[in-house]
Amino acid sequence: MPSQTPPLALRVAEIPPFHVMEVVAEAAVLEAKGIDVIHLEVGEPDFSTPSDVLTAAQDAMASGHTRYTDARGLPALRDAISAWYASQGLAISAERIQVTQGASGALLLAAAATVNPGEQVLMADPAYPCNPRFVEAVGGRVHWLRTEATDAFQPNAAMLRRSACAEDRVLMLAHPANPTGMAVPAAELRAMVSWCQDTGRHLIVDEIYQPLSFEGELQSSLHLGQDHFVVGSFSKYFNMTGWRLGWLVMPEYAVSACQKLAQHLFICAPTTAQHAALACFRPNVLAEAEVRREILKSRRDFLIPRLRALGFDIPLMPDGAFYVFADASALTENSQAFCMDLIRKTGVALTPGNDFSQALPPTWIRVAFTETEARLDEALRRIESYLAC
Ligand SMILES: Cc1ncc(COP(=O)(O)O)c(C=O)c1O
Repeated sequence: MPSQTPPLALRVAEIPPFHVMEVVAEAAVLEAKGIDVIHLEVGEPDFSTPSDVLTAAQDAMASGHTRYTDARGLPALRDAISAWYASQGLAISAERIQVTQGASGALLLAAAATVNPGEQVLMADPAYPCNPRFVEAVGGRVHWLRTEATDAFQPNAAMLRRSACAEDRVLMLAHPANPTGMAVPAAELRAMVSWCQDTGRHLIVDEIYQPLSFEGELQSSLHLGQDHFVVGSFSKYFNMTGWRLGWLVMPEYAVSACQKLAQHLFICAPTTAQHAALACFRPNVLAEAEVRREILKSRRDFLIPRLRALGFDIPLMPDGAFYVFADASALTENSQAFCMDLIRKTGVALTPGNDFSQALPPTWIRVAFTETEARLDEALRRIESYLAC
């Protein structure tokens, strides 16, 4: 027995806390007291998993589909994802699709396949806060690209040409992104795909929100090239957050490396979830997903003008996902303190922006339109009364 507790890896100590967890904890305290909380802080809408998917899961369990699957995923599911891309005019063979534990598993896999210890990954600030962790877990570092509202909070080719250095081996994009809901403008996406090809860098594009776009069909980056990684997920568009299922589209050159890594790291993605997800591609389930996308769009259109009228500065109308990123500097100097005070006094839960950005002033807030329009209306009324005090 060691006489002293052995130290844990430094990377653990270096992980900053999720500031939103303070809001989440306060929400739990209020709810335990029977106080109604309006949850606009979490990254999952109020919609339930489609009923066909639930039935398919029950059938899978009743049929004994509880053992490991092929490490690459069920062939039928990989074929279904390939056919889904075909419906978008994209020829992505099932051989290039690896089924994973959510987009999270796909991001970790892509990082493990591309980043050597000490190498860097170019990434926008603000970004989804788990992205740096995938990079650090494989010994890499993040090279932050500071972006502004005028850039749609996305990197662009000029920024890359100006800032990239030899240690930068990978560019990671999200299209659309969390926390902003902003897509990469088409011309910039094209230029960045070319830049990665021309300079011999890997490109990983997180497209989990691509089907959830509001202004017509948002083109996948796969229309602009086939030599990069694309991350997909059943979590958001198909409302399967807790099922832990996603996928990675791999460039040909990385297929066998990723498969080897996936076998060793994960064995396979959850079997019941894979069988259940086969139901996602039925026409009625896809139709339901489209109805929900329209509902999210109308929530966006309802919420944003009202937030603006309350004094939140929202420079950009989100292209997709279910988030709006707002500057609350007219209302507070510290969004963390603002969110904590707001939840305590009104029961409205929002996410402080410092979870997503090191560079922006601490006045930004993410509002997720993850509750019904009636509940959003109620949240806005509560915020209005709070601000009037
Ligand atoms: C941009 C982005 N990528 C990946 C994830 C993780 O998704 P999953 O549930 O598929 O692991 C999230 C979750 O919120 C996200 O916002």
